[in-house]
Amino acid sequence: MGKTDLEKARKRVAALRHEIEEHNYRYHVLDQPLIDDQAFDQLMRELQELEQKHPELQDPDSPTMRVGGEPLSAFEPLEHKVPMLGLDNAFNEQELHEFDGRVRRLTGLDQIEYLCELKMDGLAVSLQYEEGVLMRGATRGDGYTGEDITQNLRTIRQIPLQLPEPVTLEARGEVYMNKTAFEQLNRQREEQELPVFANPRNAAAGSVRQLDPRLAAARPLRIFVYGLGEHELDQKTQAELLVYLDRLRLPVNPNYALCTGPDQVWEYCLRWQDKRHELPYETDGIVIKVNLLELQKSLGSTARSPRWAVAYKYPPEEKATRVIDIRVNVGRTGAITPVAILEPVTLSGTTVQRASLHNEDFIAEKGVMIGDTVSVHKAGEIIPEILGVIKDKRTGNEKKFKMPRKCPSCDSDTFRLSGEAARRCLNPICPAQLVEKLVHFASRRAMDIEGLGPAVAEMLYRKKLVRDVGDLYYLRTDQLIDLDRMAEKSASNLMSAIENSKSNPLRRLLFGLGINFVGEKAARLFAEKFGHMNRIRAATAEELNAIPEIGPKITEAVVSFFGMSETETVLDKLEQAGVNFSEPIEPGREAESSPLAGKTFVFSGSLEAYTREQAAALVEGRGGKVSSSVSGKTDYLIVGDEPGSKLDKARNLGVQVLDEKGFKEVIKS
Ligand code: IVH
Repeated sequence: MGKTDLEKARKRVAALRHEIEEHNYRYHVLDQPLIDDQAFDQLMRELQELEQKHPELQDPDSPTMRVGGEPLSAFEPLEHKVPMLGLDNAFNEQELHEFDGRVRRLTGLDQIEYLCELKMDGLAVSLQYEEGVLMRGATRGDGYTGEDITQNLRTIRQIPLQLPEPVTLEARGEVYMNKTAFEQLNRQREEQELPVFANPRNAAAGSVRQLDPRLAAARPLRIFVYGLGEHELDQKTQAELLVYLDRLRLPVNPNYALCTGPDQVWEYCLRWQDKRHELPYETDGIVIKVNLLELQKSLGSTARSPRWAVAYKYPPEEKATRVIDIRVNVGRTGAITPVAILEPVTLSGTTVQRASLHNEDFIAEKGVMIGDTVSVHKAGEIIPEILGVIKDKRTGNEKKFKMPRKCPSCDSDTFRLSGEAARRCLNPICPAQLVEKLVHFASRRAMDIEGLGPAVAEMLYRKKLVRDVGDLYYLRTDQLIDLDRMAEKSASNLMSAIENSKSNPLRRLLFGLGINFVGEKAARLFAEKFGHMNRIRAATAEELNAIPEIGPKITEAVVSFFGMSETETVLDKLEQAGVNFSEPIEPGREAESSPLAGKTFVFSGSLEAYTREQAAALVEGRGGKVSSSVSGKTDYLIVGDEPGSKLDKARNLGVQVLDEKGFKEVIKS
């Protein structure tokens, strides 16, 4: 191949890259495409072919690389030269005035100009550009050190790999997912029987933290940039800064406004209160920033948050909708749960169509009838819940709901045992229960067998391939392929997921067995104390009860579970199949000597760096306790994003309130 050939290719490659990024910008940022998808694909294909033909022209900054590179085994830590702080919250007009008062007092000025922006509900990231080239990107992490997620951020088409000017700066913004994209993703996951995401924010956070960038690339992530970390720019105001970021082709949310004084700020907050739901993405508040950058600098920051900004958080949403029907679900313990089927209603960005009614007492207490108009909200912004009936809307055509006296799955009698709120089907071989047991066993927090969701479990049961969880380990690929809709590939995937699950620690197996009242926590306690399934099997009630957190109710359930001959059969099958029965002992874990012994924690709202489970594990691993509600016995309330009513209660009771940073400090101490 002649040199001129290569030179020609080099030129064409450069031109194509430029043109493609231009189209990316027009399509993904401006929403004003110039060419159609086919023409775009054509350009991409030409570039790909040239890069393949001339490997020396390959470049990590090429748009062809936006599909994601090799998976990582872990993210590298990346230190933030300027810490990525959080924001203080204001929950009402009064608290906004207080914020303004503080700013005026500290600056000695009579009136302050603020720049108000929408608060995006996503995940904070930093983008480091050197001389206009995207070098690194990171999550916020603990504010001081984040995770290097460069590979994943590169897959977001809205993020320029190269800026139109050779500037060196660190842009900060929020990665998010549009509501419709989120719903579509969840539908897809439901079909594939993968666990769904609770909200767009979780979906975005989960995607950006995918170790395999190809998976991240497949997720419809977006970004809005709202500020800078390290930089050498000379803008005077936040407003100018946003204009400049926009000129750099970084996506800036256009809905910001300058407001003089707290009254105008409040007007802006009210203006967006309802309007925000018309936006394609989720917002959870307004960020109010002192506009003059010089003033920002002189106000400075505390260890947690800047003094020049505050986040106004909208109160949680509540909406009215109609109960079309009440249906029942048979759970794995035979509990029959009534579920309200609702006229679809959008709450905090997702469509809600059902809400659990828990049990007959709940229905009686709320007085819910079929046909009623009810007010619904999302508990913890996630789980739809009926708050009450709007009695004025009754027409007289509403129908009372009666819990079924016969199990809808096996038609045997249902009972309400003394001291229980639930009505149960007590038939130990009720198909609905057995299927639910399989689903629970395979669920992510139990044995984590991907591909074994309700539909597959139902088929395995119906085809008589599986009667209990022990049978799973004796399945053959050819039996799976025979199931409807199961392709060879998914059959072999399921087979290896089942095989891999054999090595899970005892705590997961124990939780997966679905013993009444034995949740993840009790399972862990038993696994750690006894170390082996057969020791738990042989333990007496006294020995089980010797664990302080374990009460008589759990003990009784465990003793009776292990006393059943069905349990013996299942455990024998599991053991013979080579399923791990032991719990690895973590070195250096001694709860008693821990600084958190005897301390009770309550969490409200979601944390940036941990799931609830992880946060609880941190507390419990240090001897502390986690409770779900605030009381006089609470030592700490940890508030994340979107704290609920617990915060007010904690304040009233004088409970110490910490944000995520404070939580980390307590954990470290
Ligand atoms: S400014 C130093 N502006 O809200 C202050 N933050 O607790 C930096 N957020 O996770 C934040 N939209 O990622 C700012 N327009 C906006 C924002 C915004 C969303 C997030 C931010 C951080 C949290 C603040």
